[in-house]
Amino acid sequence: MRQLRRRKAGEPPLDNGWLPFFGWAFKFGKDPLKFLNLQQKKHGDIFTSYLAGKYMTFILDPTQYQYVIKQAKHLDFREFANEFASRTFDYPRITEAKFPQLRDNMHRIYKIMQGRPLDKLTDSMMGNLQHVFKWKFSQATDWRTEKMYQFCCDIIFEASFMTLYGKDPVADGHKLISEIRENFTKFDAKFPYLVLNVPIALLGATRKIREELIRIFFPNKMEKRSEVSDLVQTRKNVLDQYDVLQDHDRAAHHFAFLWASVGNTIPAAFWALYYLVKHPEALKAVRKELDHLLQSTGQKRGPNYDIHITRDQLDSLVVLGSAINESLRLCSASMNIRVVQEDFALELEGDQAYNLRKGDIVAIYPPTLHKDPEVYEDPEAYKYDRYIEDGKEKTTFYKKGKKLKHFLMPFGSGATKCPGRFFAVNEIKQFLAVIVLYLEMEMVENKILKQDNSRTGLGILLPESDIKFRYKPRKLVS
Ligand code: HEM
Repeated sequence: MRQLRRRKAGEPPLDNGWLPFFGWAFKFGKDPLKFLNLQQKKHGDIFTSYLAGKYMTFILDPTQYQYVIKQAKHLDFREFANEFASRTFDYPRITEAKFPQLRDNMHRIYKIMQGRPLDKLTDSMMGNLQHVFKWKFSQATDWRTEKMYQFCCDIIFEASFMTLYGKDPVADGHKLISEIRENFTKFDAKFPYLVLNVPIALLGATRKIREELIRIFFPNKMEKRSEVSDLVQTRKNVLDQYDVLQDHDRAAHHFAFLWASVGNTIPAAFWALYYLVKHPEALKAVRKELDHLLQSTGQKRGPNYDIHITRDQLDSLVVLGSAINESLRLCSASMNIRVVQEDFALELEGDQAYNLRKGDIVAIYPPTLHKDPEVYEDPEAYKYDRYIEDGKEKTTFYKKGKKLKHFLMPFGSGATKCPGRFFAVNEIKQFLAVIVLYLEMEMVENKILKQDNSRTGLGILLPESDIKFRYKPRKLVS
């Protein structure tokens, strides 16, 4: 029988829940936002809830987020992430003493995903997207109906895979990649269970599928690939320096990176497209901005032309950027988790401080911010231009009269913020640009899609089901 914890002086309000082991876990799992909002009404903006073996202190006031995020010494995430990544993707923890500096060396590579080095990756993605696009749509002349999630998954997976991992010189590229994608989708469906520590042996064929996915990246296969990105090549070089890593372990690291690079980007691209097609006024505004960019750069659309949009030009697409931010606001649910390293007092703004206990978890759950009506008026509504002000990107959002430092958090925060975030947003922009410039689109089904909460805390939520839409080539203007 669980010994109920008692709140000590100076600690946040404590709620043990009423189920012996699980505490509030089921209520949280069913609808986290509803649960947290109810707890907030009961206890205020900061409280500790007991959830299936863990005491979690939630910080719900976004004006206080920065005080948690800057506490890198007392509040650590890496060990937690390390443990779950090693278990989920099947490689030894990178912090083990036999891999000196491996974690730091891997993190140093993330610079290639920012600033100027991103230009090359962005150009390569643009080329690959159009390659996949032409292959997929060269026959299309009239309306064609497809499932939208599947459509996004096919295109983003193939273009991203080729951009990062290059080509297999022998196999039929499209066929091979679609086989990998099918396995990836099966693995991804079980991903939330693996994170929850459900033994892989209980998850049907998942172990075999994971092994097949890892085998794609074995050193003998990686050696043969051509046009591998600098990013993946540099990771490979770092991993190769560690003789103690087995071939399997190295390959598993590449597989983990593949998951990181498409696992969230695919659903994020889907929601961005879904909202655009569902809101014709948004689609029209985005198309106008893109048509204008093509005209002003002297480019034409057509079967024999490739579109070039540089990284700087992508940055200048304010309407498209806003539409993507708005869909990220609505569909992202990554929990920012930190583990308390030792008993300490968390100091917050306004002379507030809370005593926290070693081993407890401190959590920021961005949907409470993203759906806060004080920060975002009419928060359930999709407004494609919510992030535009005076023709520029809007970055001023307020809570309790204070300007928020963190107002949109799909990519985590602080030291563990997603290193691929710039590439991810560029990819989604490129994907939408190509589709919107080339295709007319409309919904075939009129249902409102709900989000599947099984990935709550893990990143971008998936839709509960797929949805049909139709498209045909846009008329060319001479
Ligand atoms: C980590 C979100 C796309 C590479 C993360 C984290 C989040 C996230 C929430 C954990 C951050 C934290 O714990 O605070 C997303 C979303 C994406 C996306 C929403 C797409 C919309 C990408 C892409 C790449 C990538 C395209 C690579 C090409 C990574 C890596 C990590 C990571 C390597 C682990 C970083 C570490 O080791 O600390 N991502 N990500 N992500 N992401 Fe992304």
